[in-house]
Amino acid sequence: MTFTELCKRVRTHIGQDHRYAHCVRVARMAEDLARVHGADPAKARKAGMLHDLARLYSEERLLAECAQRGVPISDFERANPIVLHAPLSAELARADFGVTDPEVLSAIAKHTLGAGEMSVLDCVLYLADGLEPGRDYPERAPLTEMAGRDLPGAMRATIESSLRYLSSKHLPLAPQTAAAMRTFGAHTMTEAPTGGHS
Ligand SMILES: [Fe+2]
Ligand SMILES: [Fe+2]
Repeated sequence: MTFTELCKRVRTHIGQDHRYAHCVRVARMAEDLARVHGADPAKARKAGMLHDLARLYSEERLLAECAQRGVPISDFERANPIVLHAPLSAELARADFGVTDPEVLSAIAKHTLGAGEMSVLDCVLYLADGLEPGRDYPERAPLTEMAGRDLPGAMRATIESSLRYLSSKHLPLAPQTAAAMRTFGAHTMTEAPTGGHS
């Protein structure tokens, strides 16, 4: 399947112009970041195009399809089914879109919560999803600038930005995101070390 054919199939599957446009922007940004940071641009583009296949599913459908397709559901995910769209999108990419590359599938599966172990490709998709130009929040510009030159630094800062968001909305922290925090040295305001860097 050519990339153009893949895009058409994704557009039909998603069935909403707004979400599809987000996937196009994420694919473009992931491709650019991969080029800068030495990951495979074609894999990044494919992961970006496919990352939100299940994003518009209802909570009931996410839980039911994960169960049906053998995607494991943790306690956190059962309580917050929206995050299941990431591993379920990876499974849809594999089973229905013919993606066999484990690196692409890993990046899709980790794009929402992150993980303790993240490859360059995983990071590139995570950042592209959070920083694509359609997103509108004050930290986006400086984080995007950092993503273009310092991948681990941008991961740390982007995770910290999402922690501030979670805390402002009183949303719970997933174990996978806590693991990513440790990997990239991200801190919440209350956990910030007292000495060292400013
Ligand atoms: Fe997503
Ligand atoms: Fe997304």
